[in-house]
Amino acid sequence: METSYDVQLSQWVAEQIDFTVNQVRKNTKTFDTLVPPAASEQLVYRPEANHDWTASFWTGMLFLSKELTGSTEFDETIEKQLHSFQERLDQRIGLETHDIGFLYSLTAIADYRVNGRESSKKLAIAAADLLMARYSPKAQIIQAWGNLDDPQQRGRIIIDCLMNLPLLYFASQMTGNESYKKAAYAHAKQTQKYIVRDNATTYHTYYFDVETGAAIGGNTQQGYADDSCWARGQAWGIYGFTLSYLYTGDTSFLKTAQDLADYFIAELPADKVSYWDLVFNDGSQEERDSSAAAIAVCGLLELAKHLPITQPNQAAYQENALAILASLAQNYTTIDHPESNGLLMHGVYDKNSLKGVDECMIWGDYYYMEALMRVSQSWYSYW
Ligand code: GLY
Repeated sequence: METSYDVQLSQWVAEQIDFTVNQVRKNTKTFDTLVPPAASEQLVYRPEANHDWTASFWTGMLFLSKELTGSTEFDETIEKQLHSFQERLDQRIGLETHDIGFLYSLTAIADYRVNGRESSKKLAIAAADLLMARYSPKAQIIQAWGNLDDPQQRGRIIIDCLMNLPLLYFASQMTGNESYKKAAYAHAKQTQKYIVRDNATTYHTYYFDVETGAAIGGNTQQGYADDSCWARGQAWGIYGFTLSYLYTGDTSFLKTAQDLADYFIAELPADKVSYWDLVFNDGSQEERDSSAAAIAVCGLLELAKHLPITQPNQAAYQENALAILASLAQNYTTIDHPESNGLLMHGVYDKNSLKGVDECMIWGDYYYMEALMRVSQSWYSYW
């Protein structure tokens, strides 16, 4: 039976879905073959070519809009974007990064799941092959950034990579070749062992010696300090470890995801939208990162799906996810900023280099829509 709580929930969720889908609809002319950049400038995304790690979030939003409305009106733009991602792979544009996973999950895999096209399955597998080239069997890790010979980046992993692993799990499922899954599993285990600290906080990045396989040490790139806990990294971890549990059945990943979630929730400020590093809280004068909040909502909802309802935390994860989402809906959207073509204000890309501070983040927008999708209907996921 529907309760009045459910009715209220479905009203504001429906309003937010209308708002976000309308914004996507308005943006299709601007971002037709070009894409939104990682961050807005004064709340406006200016179109750029498909070269950055963030280019697929727009395609993900188009697929979500298609599914949320049941309309074909987004298909033409989806088609152009998929063509651009095929070209990007053929020409190896900006693909010296583990973010091949983000790029081809929200394009090729999403299209395979939504439209069932074999060409997209092939594209995803070709992208997975490129990602596999970044795997070091000695260190059992996937190098995050840059050329494999770059001394600054050699043997470096980052927590975000957990969200790139579903591309490898997909390739194993589709081809029957277990080597993709084995690499993804090994990488997730190394991340669990070295990036997650004993108190369930996380390093952003960690170095390994790829000649000997030795673990060297952790530091940060986008967090406040080497020993602090970057909010978005923790959110990637909640979602990413849950997905590795889903694809490998290793229950230790589910436990790690819960530990990370418990820490994240315990450090939330009064309005439930985390500051950009969890070392900060109310009164700090620092910025929030609404994009970390949106990722955490999706991660918490996915995590709750895999826990028995008898476990007390199961309800707590769902309740916290809804509370964060409601706070984003109430106070963080661009609804009162008609000049903006983004969805969520108050994100932070990289405070240390003052890049995208207190702006819309394109992945924040994507995960906000994914969260709305998740609470409005049962969804099978592109990850
Ligand atoms: N994956 C890069 C970031 O979260 O900024």
